[in-house]
Amino acid sequence: WAQGAPFKIGLILPMTGQQATTGRQIEAAARLWIAQNGDTVAGRKVELIVKDDTSLPDQTRRLAQELVVNEKVDVLAGMGITPSAMAVAPIATQSKTPLVVMAAATSSITEASPFIVRTSFTLPQVSVALADWAPKNNIKNVVTLVTDYGPGIDAEKYFKERLQFNGGKVPESLRVPLRNPDFAPFLQKVRDLKPDALFVFVPSGAGAAVMKQFGERGMDKAGIKLIATGDVTDDDQLNDMGDVALNVVTSHHYSAAHPSPANKKFVEAFQKANRNLRPNFMAVGGYDGMRVIYEALKKTGGKGGGPALVEAMKGQIFESPRGPVFIDAQTRDVVHNVYLRKVEKKDGQLWNVEFDVIKDVKDPGKTK
Ligand code: DHB
Repeated sequence: WAQGAPFKIGLILPMTGQQATTGRQIEAAARLWIAQNGDTVAGRKVELIVKDDTSLPDQTRRLAQELVVNEKVDVLAGMGITPSAMAVAPIATQSKTPLVVMAAATSSITEASPFIVRTSFTLPQVSVALADWAPKNNIKNVVTLVTDYGPGIDAEKYFKERLQFNGGKVPESLRVPLRNPDFAPFLQKVRDLKPDALFVFVPSGAGAAVMKQFGERGMDKAGIKLIATGDVTDDDQLNDMGDVALNVVTSHHYSAAHPSPANKKFVEAFQKANRNLRPNFMAVGGYDGMRVIYEALKKTGGKGGGPALVEAMKGQIFESPRGPVFIDAQTRDVVHNVYLRKVEKKDGQLWNVEFDVIKDVKDPGKTK
C-alpha cells in the first residue's frame, strides 16, 4: 500500500426510509468507536465513508461498486437488511474486499461470499432459544407471524421446528410484507385462532407498530401472549411502546439493560454522544464490527489487503457490550450468548431485563 494512504471503510447503511433507525444506530456506534479508540490504527489514518442506500438493494450494490472502484475502500461494512448484504456479496468476492455485516441476520448471508464476516446475529440463534423456553412455560400452541423475507423465514422455520420437536404445535404461520406492512388483518386472524401465544419477528423499526396493534385488538385481554425475537422490543423504540409491552418475553443477543460493566460504560457513552438515544442491538453490531476491523488492521501491521484482513478477522475473541463474542473461523459468523428477557419498568423506563442465558450459541443454520 502507498505509504501514508488512509485506510478507508465504506459504511453503507439505510439512513432514510423504513430502516432509518438501523442506519442512525450503526453510524452513531461506529463514530463512538472511533472517538474512543482514535482514528489512527497501526500508523494508518482511518477514514469512514458513510453512504445512504435507503435500504434498496439496487442502491446498495451501486454504492458498493462505486466505493470499491472509485474510492478504493479497504473494507465494506453496514448492510441494514438481508437483500442489501446479498446484493453486495458478489462485489466483495470479485474485488476481494472484506464485507463486515453489522445488521442483516439471515443465516445464509455468510455463505454468499468468503469475504463476509458478521458481527450482528442470526435469526436461528435467537428463535431456537425461545422455542425451548415456551413449552416449559405452558406455551404449547403458537401461531407465528413474520416479515416475509430472509430473516422472517429463518425465524419461522427454526422456531416452528424446535417447538414441534419440544412437543408444541404451530397451527398457522403468517407472513407480512416487508414494505408498508399492515398487521391488522393478520392479528384478527390470530384472535380467531386463539393460540396460547403469538410468536413474532419483524425487522428493527417495525416493533412499535406490532405492539400498538396487538394492544388495540385486545389480544392480551383475549388471553393470547406475545413472544418475540428481541427485534420487536427493540431498545431504539421500547421506551415509547407503553404498558402493552410490559412482561413480553423475547430472546436476543443484546439488551441495553445487560448488567455488565462493559455494557454500562457503552450505554452511558453512547447516550452522552447521541442526545440520550438508547443504543439497540444494531448499534452493538456496528460497534463490534469496528472493533473487528481495527483488530484485523493491527494484525496486518497496518498493511491491510482483503484476504489478509479476513484471515485476521477469523477467530477473534473479545468482550462486547452484549457479553463474550467469538468470530467462528470456519463460518466467519458470530458466536455469542442468547438471553431470555422480559420487559419490565424500572425508574419509569421500559427495559428488556435478562432472566436466563444460553451460552456461546453458534448459528444453528450452518450445516458444517
Ligand atoms: C434484518 C433486519 C433487521 O432490522 C433485523 O432486526 C433483523 C434482520 C435483516 O434484514 O436481515
